[in-house]
Amino acid sequence: MSALFFKRFLQKPFQIASIIPSSKALVERVAGKMDFKQPRIIAEYGPGEGVHSRELASRMDAHSRLFLFELDPAFSRDLERQFADDPRVTVINRDAASLSEELTQRGIPQCDYILSGIPFSILEIRKKRALLQDTYDALKGGGAFIIYQVTNELRQHATFFDRAESEYCLQNIPPMFVTVFQKASTRNGHARTTQLLRTVSANGAK
Ligand SMILES: C[S@@+](CC[C@H](N)C(=O)[O-])C[C@H]1O[C@@H](n2cnc3c(N)ncnc32)[C@H](O)[C@@H]1O
Repeated sequence: MSALFFKRFLQKPFQIASIIPSSKALVERVAGKMDFKQPRIIAEYGPGEGVHSRELASRMDAHSRLFLFELDPAFSRDLERQFADDPRVTVINRDAASLSEELTQRGIPQCDYILSGIPFSILEIRKKRALLQDTYDALKGGGAFIIYQVTNELRQHATFFDRAESEYCLQNIPPMFVTVFQKASTRNGHARTTQLLRTVSANGAK
């Protein structure tokens, strides 16, 4: 068990919402929902101590980018340390709700994938809907919002996505629903991302 994870849970039980990080099986199941054959822009909400982030970084190519939005300062410092030598990964010690602002600052209009580990089910309803709308807007056509949660309640709120598919992962404590919310494709989406990532890489990352 991660000592840092348990310590942060004791300090902020509702924000951290779990006493142990996701299992290897859940991490592989979630990463398996993404296609890493091309350069990707990925945002992760609530990476915690980084168990999913490390897997994503290990699968991403050299031109991909990963933005980690973590509210907890101790987790954020630990993530900074883990990814200090990886220019593809940016740690942002802010609420996931700051996604569009942070992407705009870096000249990145949209993401291919957004992964969420935050406790959506306990978010106040207006904040939940606003974050879902911002998430949808921040995804390019053909992109996906992927969540793992104890309940599947988010499906009733995320109705503006074009498709949703859920499966149950028993090999985690507690077992989790993994849901992929898909945004319908638009033409030339991939070409735009590749061009953008080349420009961002050329200008330096982080
Ligand atoms: C259940 S833990 C998940 C940690 C990790 N992703 C895992 O699977 O082991 C939830 C994490 O989300 C973070 N969090 C909660 N609300 C957040 C928000 N609005 N924006 C960014 N991070 C948030 C918490 O600080 C915590 O690290």
